[in-house]
Amino acid sequence: MRQSVEIKKILAEGKIGDTLSVNGWVRTKRASKNVAFINLNDGSTLHNIQVVVDVNKFDREILDQITTGAAIAAEGELVESKGAGQNVELVAGKIHLYGAADPAKYPLQPKKHSLEFLREIAHLRFRTNTFGAITRLRHAMIFAVHKFFNDRGFYNIHTPIITGSDAEGAGEMFRVSILDPKNPPLTEDGKVNFREDFFGKETNLTVSGQLEAELAALAMTKVYTFGPTFRAENSNTKRHLAEFWMIEPEVAFFDIDNNMDLAEEMLKYLVHYALEHCRDDLDFLNKRLQDEEKNLKKEERQMELIEKLNFVLENKFERITYTTAIEVLKNSKSNKKGKFHYPVKEWGMDLQSEHERYLVEKHYKKPVIITDYPRDIKAFYMKQNDDGKTVRGMDVLFPQIGEIIGGSQREEEYDRLYARIQEMGIDEKTLWWFLDTRRFGSVPHSGFGLGFERLMLFVTGMGNIRDVIPFPRTPQNAEF
Ligand code: 4AD
Ligand code: MG
Repeated sequence: MRQSVEIKKILAEGKIGDTLSVNGWVRTKRASKNVAFINLNDGSTLHNIQVVVDVNKFDREILDQITTGAAIAAEGELVESKGAGQNVELVAGKIHLYGAADPAKYPLQPKKHSLEFLREIAHLRFRTNTFGAITRLRHAMIFAVHKFFNDRGFYNIHTPIITGSDAEGAGEMFRVSILDPKNPPLTEDGKVNFREDFFGKETNLTVSGQLEAELAALAMTKVYTFGPTFRAENSNTKRHLAEFWMIEPEVAFFDIDNNMDLAEEMLKYLVHYALEHCRDDLDFLNKRLQDEEKNLKKEERQMELIEKLNFVLENKFERITYTTAIEVLKNSKSNKKGKFHYPVKEWGMDLQSEHERYLVEKHYKKPVIITDYPRDIKAFYMKQNDDGKTVRGMDVLFPQIGEIIGGSQREEEYDRLYARIQEMGIDEKTLWWFLDTRRFGSVPHSGFGLGFERLMLFVTGMGNIRDVIPFPRTPQNAEF
């Protein structure tokens, strides 16, 4: 066989009369007495190439094994396609069967499978149109993130995955230990003696790369991390994973307004990039969502995917304070009619995603950035406002998703930061290096974290975060 050509390239550039070879997995095969039509996909594009086979020219036994899921190579000539949807098809001169897929056992049949079922066979779901599209989009977004920052002079920093500090102070961490769980060494007062553990202290998987990104920003000015983060919160929602990827820029000499500008610019850039480079896959996902929702009442339907992406591009994000948000929510019809699961009663409460979505979808009808949250519901590192009550935090809220970004201006004054650490009962010994940067050449600085899978939910229009990462980790689930 010749060197194979990828299907995307053949469908875009192939000329009638070209002789070439193609590899892929069979999506469907239709056969009549003399001719068989094989639809082949290699992951390079949503579209399949049709391979036409004169069944009398090939070994019957081999042909019979070419069924949905089988891997083959086909070599032949490109001819004009009479079928709809493609310009060319391949008339096979040679066929090689790499691996058969016994139809009695192969779980992926050419019909619509539920997303729940596909989660159980996540090792095979890449072979569906939906997960092929999501996989290509995920790659495009990863690439676009790096391009966005590179084009703006940011440096990518690898921050540690194993850490001895709790960046968010929420205590929802996975322990990293080599001690024998049945018989751990104990201290004199009967506690586990982590001095004898691998690192000589208690360590966990990181919940955020922010603290180390701050160290780098206070020398390199503009940096970002893009790494895996881990949270042991027991939330079984459609928007939470125990292992997810986070993009965290951190910029010296940036205040909260600069930070909001960067967040808005980045989100618009990424959405625009998807529309520009992944149109086929987006159109497919758009249609998928329409099909899924066609039996819903009009008011229960989401915005169409493409419309929703344009909604982000076309609107200036509304910037409001937490105090304003609470006023709007408190006086809303939904609140007065008792429609919120968590009624909005007083200043100080944490906002739930139902509140965030109300602000975006019903009230402002555009993406919203909320700033100046009560300090008691936010992390220790946020810059304290002079009112003594609020901090310079910011959350960016999107339709369907709610919070997509969380960030803040950071407390750069040593005394205030130290006091806050004490007040919150955080062990300052785990943060001496973080405090040190406030003693030497400290400057105002800001940053934020974009949850990559939240972005993917938005861009693909998928409803469950388990479907936008290849192998999701959630409570009671770490298969594959
Ligand atoms: O708001 P969070 O907790 O902020 C931080 O971790 C900061 N250290 C970021 C920073 O300022 N550098 O998380 C940031 C984002 C959220 O807005 C959300 O998009 C996503 O991370 N996120 C999750 N995504 C999936 N599953 C989870 N369990 C998530 N928790 C947070
Ligand atoms: Mg947050």
